[in-house]
Order: sequence, then C-alpha cells, then structure tokens
Amino acid sequence: MTLTHLSPPFDPGTVWLVGAGPGDPGLLTLHALNALAMADVVVHDALVDPRILAMVRPGAIVEHAGKRGGRASVAQTTITDRLIVLAQAGQRVLRLKGGDPFIFGRGGEEALGLAQAGVFFRIVPGVSSGLASLAMHGIPATTRDTNHAVILATGHCAEGHETDWAALARAGIPIVLYMAVTHVASIVSSLTEGGLDAGTPVLVVCSATTADETVVEARLDELPRLAAEGIVHSPAILVIGAIAGFRAEILSHLLALRSDAA
Ligand SMILES: C[S@@+](CC[C@H](N)C(=O)[O-])C[C@H]1O[C@@H](n2cnc3c(N)ncnc32)[C@H](O)[C@@H]1O
Repeated sequence: MTLTHLSPPFDPGTVWLVGAGPGDPGLLTLHALNALAMADVVVHDALVDPRILAMVRPGAIVEHAGKRGGRASVAQTTITDRLIVLAQAGQRVLRLKGGDPFIFGRGGEEALGLAQAGVFFRIVPGVSSGLASLAMHGIPATTRDTNHAVILATGHCAEGHETDWAALARAGIPIVLYMAVTHVASIVSSLTEGGLDAGTPVLVVCSATTADETVVEARLDELPRLAAEGIVHSPAILVIGAIAGFRAEILSHLLALRSDAA
C-alpha cells in the first residue's frame, strides 16, 4: 500500500487546507505528506517549520503568506483571494498552516471564502501546538482525577470579541493559551482578579517540537516577569492549571528510578 493509495486524489484546480503540526515533521499526517508531494503551489504561514517546507515537491512554487518574522502583515482577504486565483488557474494549491488549520488558524475564513467562490477544497487536520505541547511534556489534557474538560483560548482576539477572563478563571478548568505572550501581564491580572490563585502552576512551551524548544515551569504570577525578561517568548503555549504540575511529578519518578539504578 503506497501513500498515494491511502490519500484522496489532489485534483488540479482544488485547494487543500492542511495542518502542518507544531514543527516536528514526524507529527505530519500522511495526508499532509501526500499533499506536499503532489502540490503545484504551497502557500504557507510563518510558523510552518523549515524542515516541512524542505519536503515540498521539487519544482513546486512556494509562497509565504505569514504575518510574522518582520514581514508586512498580509490581509486575510488577500490570502484567500490568492488561493482562489491559483485554484482557478488549475493549480493544485496546498494551503499549509501551523498546527491545526481550524484552531486559531483562520482556516474557517479561508474555507468559507473558497466555498463562496465555488472552489473545491479539502481540510486536513493537523496536530495543534497546544495539544502537542501538553502531550510531548507528559501532561494529560484531562484526567479522571483532576479535570474532565480543558479550555483552549487565545490571548489575541479580534476587536470587539474580548475574552471574559474572569469567567474562564471561575470555570476551574485548565486553560491552554495560544498567542498570549504580548498581553500576558493583563491576562494574568484579569485571571487573578477573576479568582484564579496567583500560585496556580503554569507550564510554558516555546517553539514546541522545534530545535529551539524551551520549557518553563512557573507560577501564574511569575509570567509577566518571565515574558518581560524574554524567558517566555513567542511562539508559546501557556498551560495554566493543576495539570501543568504533571510533568514535574512524572520527572520526579523517573529521576528516582535513575538514582535507584546508579
Ligand atoms: C495563529 S496561532 C496558530 C495556531 C495553530 N493553528 C495551532 O493549531 O497550533 C499561532 C500561535 O500558536 C502557538 N504556536 C504555534 N506553533 C507553536 C509552537 N511550535 N510552539 C509553541 N506555540 C506554538 C503560539 O501560541 C502562536 O502564537
């Protein structure tokens, strides 16, 4: 059985909205891998790892549509219009997004724009950086003893759609925060004013699953200082709540095993 047999056909004139995962190419789906091998044009975001871009089919055109890295911000409508133009020109268009395209990735807006333009598309889920940051560091998103739900939230909302941080604090459920470094001081003060303990454990994973990955264990009230000092920096996932302590617990058992063996 080959990869092509496992994947649906990537027809000319269509767009695949594909999640590239957090960075590590080993976390790509087989559909994503097949799309990389088949696409005529790849339109990617800034957070797509260079190791994944190196897997694009030789001869394919690679376009950057990101909004970081010192590049001028590209309007969302401009990106969607570009996808439409490329598809209408008969290209196999791979729209490659970091993590999962539908988790804080504006994939929904692109899918809607393509549908409105009558362009056929397929959505390929990816491993979201928030979920990867948890699992890769031994933190279960839910456990039967601690929490039966988890909140995925963004620290960067569209104007007029601000998050009710006090309500999240009151929910008593762990919070996995995306895009929160810039506004971390005000987020932390809103959460603590909303009743969340200042000593709540936090785990921060910066550049998860890349060569630059760093992990910081802290208390909630330490986050503003850590961000000001650059110890916590973008891109980062902030895990806030009791589950954040799980990594230290697992590590303590592993270290005890090692010292027993020594
Ligand atoms: C526009 S959102 C995209 C999220 C993406 N769709 C996902 O599912 O992971 C960008 C934010 O995702 C998080 N992020 C993406 N890749 C990351 C990584 N490798 N390590 C840590 N955080 C990451 C950061 O919070 C970053 O600011």
